[in-house]
Amino acid sequence: MITGAASGIGRATALIFAREGARVVCADIDAEGGAETARQVEAAGSEAIALRVDVTRRDQVRAMIGEAIARFGRIDVLFNSAGSALRRCGFLEIDDALWDRSYDLNVKGTFYGMQEVLPHMLAAGGGVIVNMASMAHRRGGPGGSVHYASAKGAVVTLTMGVAREFADRGIRCLSVSPASVETAFQAASGTSPEMEARIVAGIPMKRMAEADEIGELVVFLASDACQFMTADTVYVSGGGGYR
Ligand SMILES: NC(=O)c1ccc[n+]([C@@H]2O[C@H](COP(=O)([O-])OP(=O)(O)OC[C@H]3O[C@@H](n4cnc5c(N)ncnc54)[C@H](O)[C@@H]3O)[C@@H](O)[C@H]2O)c1
Repeated sequence: MITGAASGIGRATALIFAREGARVVCADIDAEGGAETARQVEAAGSEAIALRVDVTRRDQVRAMIGEAIARFGRIDVLFNSAGSALRRCGFLEIDDALWDRSYDLNVKGTFYGMQEVLPHMLAAGGGVIVNMASMAHRRGGPGGSVHYASAKGAVVTLTMGVAREFADRGIRCLSVSPASVETAFQAASGTSPEMEARIVAGIPMKRMAEADEIGELVVFLASDACQFMTADTVYVSGGGGYR
């Protein structure tokens, strides 16, 4: 199950899971985009359903999990990719609405997903949860996205706590912390061309990550390849950008 599956990293990851033969639940607030991802998963030869969900609403997240279980019987992997920086502004300009929306989407959305799926995973004997954090949590987002960076820091800590609480019950939980990725996120978060140039200049590889590169990592983490991994965040940074 993937939230934020209508676009960017979520869609790329859905298609990589499909390549590996997984059945994919494509969940997103953007119903049309989610349906398009599901069509692409089916075109790749796997099965998919698209569900419209606002991850900031517990009732909708609960319904999403219920529908997925009704259709596929169990959820082996939950990838919480839905998230955004929403808007860039200096720390003193962050108002209550931006703060609350940032935490609702990036933190509460992740919290709801984990709390609603865990009882099913525990009953089934195990599962893997991968949450989307960001390199931003290492830098604090000065001058544009402290609201977002701090919310992603909360995602890293939330992931660690859940991983450690359930580590001896078949559950693994990890987060991924990419530097900038070439997706609709940049436009949706108000990244200006000048800011984008500064970001790229600060990355030793002098480019942003591609969504597929993050998707490959998520599928690896969710696989049985390295089952000793849990709790930590994994950086995908092109060599740094810690500035
Ligand atoms: N692109 C980057 O530079 C970058 C870097 C680090 C981390 N991230 C994180 O990666 C994740 C995916 O971002 P992306 O780059 O694919 O961006 P994206 O904008 O392409 O995709 C985000 C998806 O989340 C969905 N979404 C937004 N609000 C939602 C809600 N309330 N309920 C359900 N779905 C909702 C959007 O409709 C969209 O399909 C986010 O959590 C983002 O914070 C992105």
